[in-house]
Amino acid sequence: MSQEPIKFAYWVPNVSGGLVVSKIEQRTSWDIDYNRELARIAEKAGFEYALSQIRFTAGYGAEYQHESVAISHALLASTEKLRVIAAILPGPWHPAVLAKQISTISHLTGGRIAVNIVSGWFRSEFTAIGEPWLEHDERYRRSEEFIEVLKGIWTQDDFSYRGDFYRFHNYSLKPKPLQQPRPEIFQGGSSRAARDMASRAADWYFTNGNSVEGIKAQVDDLRAKAAANDHKVKVGVNAFIVARDTEEEARAVLAEILAKADPEAVRAFGHEVRQAGAASPEGEGNWAKSTFEDLVQYNDGFKTNLIGTPQQIAERIVALKAVGVDLILSGFLHFQEEVAYFGEKVLPLVRELEAKRAAEKSAA
Ligand SMILES: Cc1cc2nc3c(=O)[nH]c(=O)nc-3n(C[C@H](O)[C@H](O)[C@H](O)COP(=O)(O)O)c2cc1C
Repeated sequence: MSQEPIKFAYWVPNVSGGLVVSKIEQRTSWDIDYNRELARIAEKAGFEYALSQIRFTAGYGAEYQHESVAISHALLASTEKLRVIAAILPGPWHPAVLAKQISTISHLTGGRIAVNIVSGWFRSEFTAIGEPWLEHDERYRRSEEFIEVLKGIWTQDDFSYRGDFYRFHNYSLKPKPLQQPRPEIFQGGSSRAARDMASRAADWYFTNGNSVEGIKAQVDDLRAKAAANDHKVKVGVNAFIVARDTEEEARAVLAEILAKADPEAVRAFGHEVRQAGAASPEGEGNWAKSTFEDLVQYNDGFKTNLIGTPQQIAERIVALKAVGVDLILSGFLHFQEEVAYFGEKVLPLVRELEAKRAAEKSAA
C-alpha cells in the first residue's frame, strides 16, 4: 500500500447529459461557466486532478461536446493548483501537434497540464470523421508508439523515431514543457493490451469501475508486468459517487437513476462497446462483463460501490488503496454540490482512516 495520501480526480462534464445515461434530473451542465465554477470548487475541496473527455460524435446522449485540450486549458486558466488531464485519441491527433499544444499550455499554466491517451472504442465515430478504424490490439500498438514519441519529443533534442505509425527526423521541440522531466501520461483502458502498454509506457493506468477483487486482479497483473519491465505505474479507478447523510438516501438515488435509465441509449452504447471489447484477442476489455445496469454509468462507476454514507465510502476508498489504488476518479449526479459535499464530509474521513492505518502499521 502506498504511503502517499490517495489522490482524487473528477470527470470534467464537458459532454452534455452528465455521467449517467438516465432521464433523472441532473444539475450538471457541460457549458464553460458551469465547468469553470466546478473546477474552482473542486480544487478548494481537495481534488488534485480533473479529467476531460474526448468525443467527436455521441452514441449515448452526449450530444454536445467541448474539445478536451481547449477546455482543459480554460479550466487551468480559472484555477491555481488543480492539474487537468486532457483526453487524447491517437488517430485524430498527430503526436507532433499534441506535444506542441501541451508544451504551450504547460508554459501558460505553470506546468499543470497532463494527458490521458485513450485508444478508442467507438467505431461509428471514427467512420464519421473519416479516420481508419484499427483492430483492438493495433489501436494499442499505435497508442504505445504515440506515448514513446511524446516522451521523446518532450525530453530530447534532435529526436528521431522510426515506427509503424510515426516517423521523426532530428526534431527539436522548443520550448519543451515546464514539467521535469515532462507532463504526466495517463492511459484509459482495461484490457490485457491496455495493461501490457501501461506496464511499459504510461505513468498511470486508468481503469473502469470494479469491485475491490476485480481491481486487485488488475493491479496484481499490472504491477507484476511493470516490475518485469523495470517500470513504475500508478493506478486510478473510476467510481460514480453517491454520498448522502444516510445509506437509504444514497441507495434511493441509485435506484432512481436506474429506474429512469434511457433504455435505447444504454442499449446502443452497450452494442458499440461490446463490439470494441469483443475485438480484443481475449474477448475482454472494459465492458466485457457489464450488465444493463452497469452501463447506465458509461465507465462502470456503480461497480466500485462508493454509494452510501461518508463513513462507508471512506472505508471503501481505503480498502481500494490497500490493494494498490493511488487515485479515485469520480463522477457525480449534481457535480458542483456533490464535489463540495465530498470535500467537506468524505475526504477528511479518508485522511483520518489513512493516518490510523499508518499508525497501526508502524506499531506492528
Ligand atoms: C478513465 C477512462 C477515460 C476514458 N476516456 C475516454 C474518452 O475521453 N474518449 C474515448 O473515446 N474513450 C475514452 N475511454 C475509453 C478508452 O478509449 C478505451 O476505448 C476503452 O477503455 C476500451 O479499452 P479496452 O478494450 O482496453 O478496455 C476512457 C477509458 C477510461 C478507463
